[in-house]
This record gives sequence, structure tokens and C-alpha cells, in this order.
Amino acid sequence: MNVEYDLIDIAQTPPEDETARQYYFIAKARQYLGRMAAEAGRRMTFCVTTFGCQMNARDSEKLSGILQAVGYEKSSEEDADLVLFNTCTVRENANNRVYGRLGYLNGYKKKNPHMIIGLCGCMMQEEHVVEKIRQSYGFVDLIFGTHNIFKLPELLVQVYEQNEMVVDVWPGTDQVVECLPNKRKYFFKSGVNIMYGCDNFCSYCIVPYVRGRERSRRPEEILSEIRDFVADGVVEVMLLGQNVNSYGKTLDEPVTFAQLLAQVEEIAGLRRIRFMTSHPKDLSDELIEIMGRSQKICPHLHLPLQSGSTRLLRIMNRNYTKEQYLALVEKVRQAVPEIAITTDIMVGFPGETEKDFEETMDVVRRTRFDSAFTFLYSPRRGTPAYSMEDQVPAEAAQQRFDRLLDEVSSIAAAKAEKLTGRVLDVLVEDVNRQDSSLVTGRLGNNSIVHLPGDERLIGQIVPVHLDECRGFYYLGSVVL
Ligand code: 5AD
Ligand code: SF4
Repeated sequence: MNVEYDLIDIAQTPPEDETARQYYFIAKARQYLGRMAAEAGRRMTFCVTTFGCQMNARDSEKLSGILQAVGYEKSSEEDADLVLFNTCTVRENANNRVYGRLGYLNGYKKKNPHMIIGLCGCMMQEEHVVEKIRQSYGFVDLIFGTHNIFKLPELLVQVYEQNEMVVDVWPGTDQVVECLPNKRKYFFKSGVNIMYGCDNFCSYCIVPYVRGRERSRRPEEILSEIRDFVADGVVEVMLLGQNVNSYGKTLDEPVTFAQLLAQVEEIAGLRRIRFMTSHPKDLSDELIEIMGRSQKICPHLHLPLQSGSTRLLRIMNRNYTKEQYLALVEKVRQAVPEIAITTDIMVGFPGETEKDFEETMDVVRRTRFDSAFTFLYSPRRGTPAYSMEDQVPAEAAQQRFDRLLDEVSSIAAAKAEKLTGRVLDVLVEDVNRQDSSLVTGRLGNNSIVHLPGDERLIGQIVPVHLDECRGFYYLGSVVL
């Protein structure tokens, strides 16, 4: 959308309509920033740093888009006039990383006292975190949460106008404000939010508390956003939600995720469709069928297992058994024989015994995941698991974690080896960071491939011969 900010009359009171209101504040922030830039004799700069998942990455694109509309130019954290940390709180170490990095920012701010430091995202939805920042990190200028990222322009103006920390965290929302500027990181691919929040309440997980109740966007809005992206050069989309398989259930006119996918498939010019994340309990036959038939849905399914023990799965509130999970994988592989199945696995959940852990190892050996993210259970305040007795001693959990990682890695390497010698399509994404004579891209199954080439290949889908497998990635060459 092209907006003439200079035509917005900021002498008037701000409009009520939320989208118009934020455009008004963008116009106002532009004036302030223009003055700051004139005083400094240079452009003002920003840096948004993302912690956590794809949802946060997409939110950061929206935040960056707003900051660029305000007039900021992108730079590194060290010399930015405004740094925004988009935080994650899914595990304790995510929080610790944020606190650690804040220490560095304080150092930069001492050199550039006008520097604005903002914090947003999941961690800010927790009261005790905001309290700690007020007490111990007084140099922070702005705090907001996951429900009001669209409000950044208005909050920025408050930061410019007042001399104390601006804090605005909402407990929840039923508003979905889109239509604001946003800046894609890659011109050829994009995440697309199809739903927000999560209603599953797995007993270890903090996401439902920090991201709120499940809300689906209407299909027309999603399709029109994707069409606009495609017109703008996008060939691959990743449909994003905490549990995409339950998409559409709460809409006035309910739609299934499979029906949405069928409509996305119809969009001319779009070449690849991905989605994230699927919950095993809601993965329907209808979805499996469309994955088998589709020309565009990538042969990759991320299907978090968490644990292979039916007993623990029940306490985790996952709503499936070990056998159901195994049967589901079987069904998916029947329908899409070459599909890569990846997963998330947690070890050390309260009460996990050696026998429970062996059940997890059994599923790993039987399913042979193409890759798996493995996590040590991390107690999150406010979740049911936090106050469960029987927390697993750190040493035992670490020992299981190491065993799991060994198993998962050797299976993944053996599986990857099987594609060596094949010719498959690669979407080229970047120039290789270590070796600029190479570019890096991804197969449909999400594996990484490095191949000779230059930046002219970026954004193109090219047939590549997979010459060699190096465990987690391939070396290949374009087939002319
Ligand atoms: N501790 C460890 N891992 C967790 N995850 C979610 N909550 C926790 C927690 N409290 C993992 C799950 C989820 C992934 C995104 O993070 O495996 O699938
Ligand atoms: Fe994403 Fe969850 Fe982290 Fe929030 S807490 S950023 S939803 S992984």
C-alpha cells in the first residue's frame, strides 16, 4: 500500500479507526524523526532482533516495515538509534539470552545516549518479566506485548514525547489489525499468518498464556495477501499458526485448513506452499489427501511428537497416544512417499522415567525422522507442569538428551544420504556466508543445498544435482 504521509493532517485529533489511527501516528513520528535526523545531520537507524519462532520472525517484518515507514534506515544493533528486541519465552534459556543481550545494549546506549531501546514479544506478556525490567533495566524506553504490535507508531510517539519508560501490554485481544506497512526479509518468500494464538494448553507450554486464544484470519484476507505477495515476486509462502490443523474452526463461516490449502494452490505464479505447525491430534485425512495430490505443497511435514510415552502424552495434555502418532506417520508416508517428517521432542518432563524415555527412543527409531529439534524440558511459571512434583534431576535429563541427540542425528544423516545423486528443485535463498562463490537454497523437503552460483540466482527455483551429502546439507550443481 502506498500512503502519502505528508497528506495526513496531524494537527487534527487522531482517528478512531485503528488502521487509520496508526497511519496518523506514523505521519506524526516521521515529523519527530525528521527533526532528530536534521539535528544529527544524518539518517536515523534501527535494528529489530528476533528471538524464537517463525511467528516472531513474521512479526519482526511487520515491526521493521513500520519503522521504515517512520523513516528509520536499517543498521546493526551496535550503531542503531533504535533497537527493538522481539522476545521469546518458550524456554528459560530464551529469556536468559534476552537479559544477556540487554547488558550489551546498555553499553551501546552509554555511547549514544539518544538510543531508544524497545522490548516486545512473548516474554513481555509475563508480569514478572516487566517488573524485573522496571527494577533492573531502567534504561529500556519501551515495552509492549504480542497483542498490540500494530500500535508501534503510537507508542513511538509517546516515547518521543515523554521522558519515562512507556509500557503497554494487553492481556488479550480479539482485534486483528493487518494492513500496516511491512517489510519482507526475502523478496521471493514470505510467512503468512493464518491464525493467531493457541487453545491447546499443553501442560508444559506458555504459548497459550502469552499469545492468547486461537483466532483465525478469514480466507479472503489470506488469499488476497498471498496474491499481493505473488504480484510482488514471492514464489514460496509459509502459512503460519501455532496449530494450523485447527484453522478456521472459529470463523463465522467455518473453513478447514485443507480447504484453505486448496484455494492457495489455485494462485497462479505461486510455486511452493509450506505450513507450520501441525498438531498430530488435528491432522485430518482431508489434509493428507490434499498433500498427496498437490503440485505445490512441499513434501515436508513438521509434526511435533514431544514424547513417545502415552502415559506422559496424557499428562502433557497432547490428546494422542504413541500408537496413534505412529499410525499417522504411516498414513502420511503412504500418501506422500518422499515426504520429510521432522519433529520436536522434549526430554525431562516431570515424572519422566527411563521407561518413558525408552518409548520416545522407540518412536524415534521406528519413525526415522528426517530431523528433530530436541529440547530439555524447561519449567514455565504459570503452566500446570511448573508445579508438578517429580521434576527430573538435571543430570538424568541431560544424559537422556545426549542419547536422544545421538540417535536423532545418526538417523537424520543416514536418511539425507539417500537423496545423493538425485536431481531436485532448489529455491536459491542467499549467497553463502562462508564462501561467496556458492549460493544456498532449499529443497522442497526443506534440506539445505550449497551450489556454485552468484546472487543472480537468488529467488529462482533451479534443478540441482545433489553431488554430495555432508550430514545436514548437500553440495550440488545446477543442471543446465
Ligand atoms: N520446555 C521445553 N521445551 C518446550 N517447548 C514448548 N514448551 C517447552 C518447555 N516448557 C518446545 C516444544 C514445542 C517447541 C516449539 O518448543 O517441543 O514443540
Ligand atoms: Fe514463538 Fe513461542 Fe517463542 Fe512466542 S514463545 S516467540 S510463540 S516460540
